[in-house]
Amino acid sequence: MQSILVASSKGGCGKSTLSTHLAAHFCVHGKRTALVDLDPQGSSLRWCQRRAAMLDAPLAIDGSQDRWHKAMPDDIQQVVIDAPAGSTPEALKSALKRVDAVLVPVLPAPFDLEATAMFLSALSRVPRVSSGELPIALIANRVRPTTQASQRALAQLHEWPYPVLAELRDSQSYVLLTALGKSLFDYGNEVAQEQQSLWQGVFAYLRKLERRVKPTKG
Ligand SMILES: Nc1ncnc2c1ncn2[C@@H]1O[C@H](COP(=O)(O)OP(=O)(O)OP(=O)(O)O)[C@@H](O)[C@H]1O
Ligand SMILES: [Mg+2]
Repeated sequence: MQSILVASSKGGCGKSTLSTHLAAHFCVHGKRTALVDLDPQGSSLRWCQRRAAMLDAPLAIDGSQDRWHKAMPDDIQQVVIDAPAGSTPEALKSALKRVDAVLVPVLPAPFDLEATAMFLSALSRVPRVSSGELPIALIANRVRPTTQASQRALAQLHEWPYPVLAELRDSQSYVLLTALGKSLFDYGNEVAQEQQSLWQGVFAYLRKLERRVKPTKG
């Protein structure tokens, strides 16, 4: 089982959009997937409800319950955890103990970079992170390739000591599809495929990580 925490202290950076897309991708590829929503706002849980009628829906787990991990069936292969805005590493302690990686979405804009830098600095003091056991990676979200502001912020982001796995476009597809309980990974048309290709770095990273963590777990 591989568990991924999608987290940032910054609100609105795309945690729920990324979490639901990751969960959808795993489901579509036949993995038994659980999506844990730690956020009382419940965006991911509501997305799961909207998706429930589809065959490839993840198991939805309400992470606002203290002992949510007890609700995890043994046969789950992939766990995605959506964290709330304003989370500190202390508040995420229980999840940080269990996950194999933390993915941090970040919007390419100055306020977002500043807030994310503070979150990453706090995260770097978590023993599992400072020891190198728990990897952290960034996903640039809502990128507008044609704007200078976006490009400047991205250049800055690439200088940080964390891998930038993807630069996801600012696109209404995410807004429209999540509202339907769907994702880009549910479609095979050219437009969807073009957007899906931007996620390749994320899945390559997770596959590599899975190969790395397997021996220690087995
Ligand atoms: N790549 C994208 N392109 C366009 N809109 C996006 C993209 N990613 C997220 N959004 C939109 O941005 C808003 C915030 O996204 P989302 O709810 O996923 O962020 P969040 O980090 O989970 O927010 P919160 O901190 O409130 O939990 C939503 O309206 C979402 O539809
Ligand atoms: Mg959210």
